[in-house]
Amino acid sequence: MKNILKNKKIALCVCGSISAYKSVDLASKWVQQGADVKVLMTKSAQKFVGKATFEGITHNKVVDDLWNNESDLNIDHLDIAKNSDLLIVSPITANMISKIAHGVSDDIISTTLLATEKPIIIAPAMDGNMYDHFAVKKNIELLKKNGVIVLEPESGYLASGLTGKGRLRNQEEITAEVERVLSIADDLKGKNILISAGGTREPIDSVRFIGNRSSGKMGHSLAEICSQRGANVTLVTTSNLFVPNGIKKISVSTAEEMKVEIINLIDSMDCIIMAAAVADFKPEIFNEGKVKKDGIEKMELNLVKNDDILNLIKDSKCIKIGFAAETSNHDEFGVNKLNSKDLDMIVINDVSNSQIGFESDYNQVKIITKKGDIFKSDIENKKIIASNIIDKLKTIIN
Ligand code: CTP
Repeated sequence: MKNILKNKKIALCVCGSISAYKSVDLASKWVQQGADVKVLMTKSAQKFVGKATFEGITHNKVVDDLWNNESDLNIDHLDIAKNSDLLIVSPITANMISKIAHGVSDDIISTTLLATEKPIIIAPAMDGNMYDHFAVKKNIELLKKNGVIVLEPESGYLASGLTGKGRLRNQEEITAEVERVLSIADDLKGKNILISAGGTREPIDSVRFIGNRSSGKMGHSLAEICSQRGANVTLVTTSNLFVPNGIKKISVSTAEEMKVEIINLIDSMDCIIMAAAVADFKPEIFNEGKVKKDGIEKMELNLVKNDDILNLIKDSKCIKIGFAAETSNHDEFGVNKLNSKDLDMIVINDVSNSQIGFESDYNQVKIITKKGDIFKSDIENKKIIASNIIDKLKTIIN
């Protein structure tokens, strides 16, 4: 079996929880597998475990101070943020969860996490009542929404004597997650992926348009995940949502503009993911300036059909992934689209459920591939759904 940890640089951040001692074993196992483990500790963590233990195991100095630098740059937090393959905080306390959720940077761990663009895993450990607290729950949600991978604690016996959800996940599971994240970190390296996002706006006049409720969150999450996994991503979007560095963003507004950009780019792509809600119809006539209401009691709007972009690129050799936004007969309509648009994969979602789909941060999808593989996700944050979709893409892209 391939040793994924070999030569990987892992920043193991240890916070002040009784379970800090378990990180010693993690560090030891990872070093034995050939990883270069750099341990960062808060002052509270050192009340539970000494630095010397980690230094003896990792053969690296423990970093516990923002002002005691040893790196080439002489700025340790930037050096670790940039040069690690992955950062994991295990155990992470309620305090550190709160700090990173809100961008506080007053110690070596929070500052390093704020400075990194590398994958971050957190493994919380605390008393059950603390993990159930509304503030902790909200902070965890915020972190998940922003791409931090949370290894939810287990339920079981806690140091307080209580039984509840707060126990650090076991060593094997933590290591398995580290291996999984490291193995996908660059698995799309060199692939050119084109993603469309957002709802198109079809103008009636200079101020009015016909639009739809798509926010662009799903397409933007896909772009972010593909980029994190090493792909060269071009995002053709109608949305003003934030786009991280490294993604080429092309802003469009109408279906026609989106079509032109996609047709221009498609030959150089390995894959296209059409997450955009492209308007099927547009007003036949565009009125220059603003149409005034005086003297108009009834306005008739003639709509004409827009080109179907996926249909236009049917002959392209690249992998084509479509979305099917449905309110009924989801599977039937989804499979029809998969076949009629000659797609490699269709992602079906229920847009009649306000908890998921349009505008929501959450989604639940059914993915069906041309070969007939079926995957149904849980209701999850769109970043996690994006990872699920890309995991499926990985099974058909080579
Ligand atoms: N799509 C497209 N061009 C269009 C309309 C849709 O490329 N003019 C793409 C969407 O981006 C999506 C897929 O086709 O990936 C399915 O879109 P959807 O709106 O669910 O279905 P339609 O094909 O438009 O059919 P209907 O609206 O009747 O369900």
